[in-house]
Amino acid sequence: MNKTSFSSLEETAAFKRAAAARAATLVAPGMAVGLGHGSTAVAAVPFLGERARRGELDGTVFVPAAHFMAVALRREGLPVASLDDAPELALAIDGADEIDPDGNCVKGGGGALLYEKIVGQAARRLVIVADAGKLAPRLCTRHALPVEITPFALASELRFLAALGGNPGLRLRPDGDPMRTERGNVIADCAFAPLADPAELAAALDARAGVAGHGLFVGLASRIILAGPDGVREIVPPGKG
Ligand code: A5P
Repeated sequence: MNKTSFSSLEETAAFKRAAAARAATLVAPGMAVGLGHGSTAVAAVPFLGERARRGELDGTVFVPAAHFMAVALRREGLPVASLDDAPELALAIDGADEIDPDGNCVKGGGGALLYEKIVGQAARRLVIVADAGKLAPRLCTRHALPVEITPFALASELRFLAALGGNPGLRLRPDGDPMRTERGNVIADCAFAPLADPAELAAALDARAGVAGHGLFVGLASRIILAGPDGVREIVPPGKG
């Protein structure tokens, strides 16, 4: 890795921490708070730990969407609950792979899309945290769309996704076996052309048995916190003000 790429990775990591730090200020005592997966959401955990040690988060519990996040929360001594314990969340904080100007997102680069969506929809407010490089004029401009498939349906769903124009590729582990989600499903990464109507594609995927979940989060986010060279800014998606 050359010096430039290392420093730009460092810079991106700093932007992620800045967005995560802002989101951590939204957490209040007594809240049930969902947390997704990925490097930006996990960057909020040390800030939350500091606030808890200062006595600012009494009675707050955290519902992780992934084992990785549960481990990070426990390492900071933060109380972890399940969605059964706290089925209604005041807030959820999560990252994204791509964000359009209306606040719709592609998620699932880390493979936690289904549980992240379940946690996000259980929350009164879903706050997305990201570095500004995640903004795109349309979803699927730079990032493939992850689609989670029930293994029984794999061959048939790959044909379905190809017919939709997704050019699906099965996500593999380093040993060449299909990657499994925490639910035991597999993921097809779909290289759709930039989406003119993400809601239309989301509806087609939602209607398909065999598709266990997909990474299109349309109209779910109530606020986007973006950090970049010009500082931290917030986008409030249409209708969420
Ligand atoms: C996990 O499956 C994803 O949805 C992540 O939230 C997304 O990939 C963002 O990850 P980073 O915060 O690591 O960029």
